[in-house]
Amino acid sequence: MGQLDGKVVFVTGAARGQGRSHAIRLAQEGASIIGFDVCGEAAKVQYRSSSPEDLKETERLVDEVGYGIVTVIGDVRFRPSAFVATATCAIALGPIPGAKGNAGTVSGRSFLY
Ligand SMILES: NC(=O)c1ccc[n+]([C@@H]2O[C@H](COP(=O)([O-])OP(=O)(O)OC[C@H]3O[C@@H](n4cnc5c(N)ncnc54)[C@H](O)[C@@H]3O)[C@@H](O)[C@H]2O)c1
Repeated sequence: MGQLDGKVVFVTGAARGQGRSHAIRLAQEGASIIGFDVCGEAAKVQYRSSSPEDLKETERLVDEVGYGIVTVIGDVRFRPSAFVATATCAIALGPIPGAKGNAGTVSGRSFLY
């Protein structure tokens, strides 16, 4: 039995990195996951953006745990896309009592300039 059996958790930035590992860990505790990610250039950054293939890999890894995942490509800064994603997934998976806000980028520039 997991601590999140039967719960649905919405994870932003789920395509890779910390978001992916949060999604897997939450699934190991029994949660179904909504994995949300922009899968592309979200801002001017000096490193590679994540891709739809990255989000697919998260889907595969969470599926291995066995509790189910729905992935959605969208931008957290664009409220309608997050709203449509949550509404659609809530219909598929049920009410969403948990959210892990993780999406973000890092600028390599000094704050002085
Ligand atoms: N890794 C670290 O050491 C560290 C330290 C402090 C804070 N953080 C923060 O934690 C978060 C995750 O870090 P990470 O290392 O896993 O980064 P990462 O770049 O590997 O993953 C971030 C994911 O968020 C997605 N994303 C970015 N902007 C988005 C948007 N507007 N809408 C939807 N998805 C979006 C990206 O596509 C990417 O898949 C980031 O917000 C980062 O700033 C990371």
